[in-house]
Amino acid sequence: MPSAQLQQAIELLRNDNVVCVPTETVYGLAASMYSEKAIEKIYTIKGRPRSNPLIVHIGRIQDLQTLCSDLPAPLQRLAERFWPGPLTILVEKSDQVPLSITAGGTRVGIRMPNHPLTLELLKALPFPLVAPSANPYNAISPTTAKHVEDYFGSAIPLILDGGPCEQGLESTVVGIENEQVVIYRQGMITAEQIESLVGPIVVKNEAGEKQVAPGMTLKHYSPKTPTIVCEHLEQFKEDSAGKAFLLFSKKHPELPQAHQYVLSEKEDLSEAAARLYQVLHELDERSYNQIVCERFPDIGIGRAINDRLLRAGGGVVTQ
Ligand code: TXA
Ligand code: MG
Repeated sequence: MPSAQLQQAIELLRNDNVVCVPTETVYGLAASMYSEKAIEKIYTIKGRPRSNPLIVHIGRIQDLQTLCSDLPAPLQRLAERFWPGPLTILVEKSDQVPLSITAGGTRVGIRMPNHPLTLELLKALPFPLVAPSANPYNAISPTTAKHVEDYFGSAIPLILDGGPCEQGLESTVVGIENEQVVIYRQGMITAEQIESLVGPIVVKNEAGEKQVAPGMTLKHYSPKTPTIVCEHLEQFKEDSAGKAFLLFSKKHPELPQAHQYVLSEKEDLSEAAARLYQVLHELDERSYNQIVCERFPDIGIGRAINDRLLRAGGGVVTQ
């Protein structure tokens, strides 16, 4: 028997309403994939352009068959290996999938999230849920229920609180082009992990490149405070007033100690990713004039972190 809160979520979702749900990556603003009214609410609440498609979240692997018209073997292998988990696959949609969630395109993004509360909800519902991250368009994704509350308050009838998101960065988005796996959005499942399963891949949409997938704009995931990514932080030693410094594992001896924020003292990229948005939300609450971010090691999850930091800053790396 689902809890009273899950029961309430089920009722709301069955009746054309949106509900905010936790996932292992970030909180999502969910609606039935078959409710045009609720899908409309998602776009309105987020202020999101209709050209930006939504990801379908499923709780049962069988749902994948009904949602796509073709399932390329490499994508099936990736889904079997990484689901439930932070991987979204783009596949040719079946007739079941409304064009309103694919921005009129023929491909649909699908993932099975790895959060017990949301998996229980998905299994109890007779339909999949579409869910973009629960933030206003272009703002930082929420990794706690409080972030969502602060963004939207009473505009969302129910926020299911599943605690802080364990992984903290959006899912890796993959598809296939000319029989080769393509990463369109880097995330917690790394290029290295994907290659070890399906062979050489291509990464498109890197921050700094022209947009190739709908919704992947360069300026994205942005704090309100102007943000830059920098190779050499020591250049700010005479010019540090009003600045917050976001660092991977070590404070810089020549910069003001009180304004340096380290994401992982033990140099663990997963820990850094899990804390990134939380710390950016906190820095936005303080009155800094600028957030100066160190560039992270360009390997594994470090690439996804750099991608988000670069987009937060509009795509430029300051030497
Ligand atoms: O981790 C996540 O993926 C989170 C949680 C809530 O599941 N969701 C999320 O959704 O980040 P959203 O809508 O904020 O970002 C999804 C991105 C889109 O901006 C777009 O770039 C890509 O995934 N995407 C989704 N469907 C697509 C499609 N049919 N074709 C191309 N790109 C698509
Ligand atoms: Mg988003």
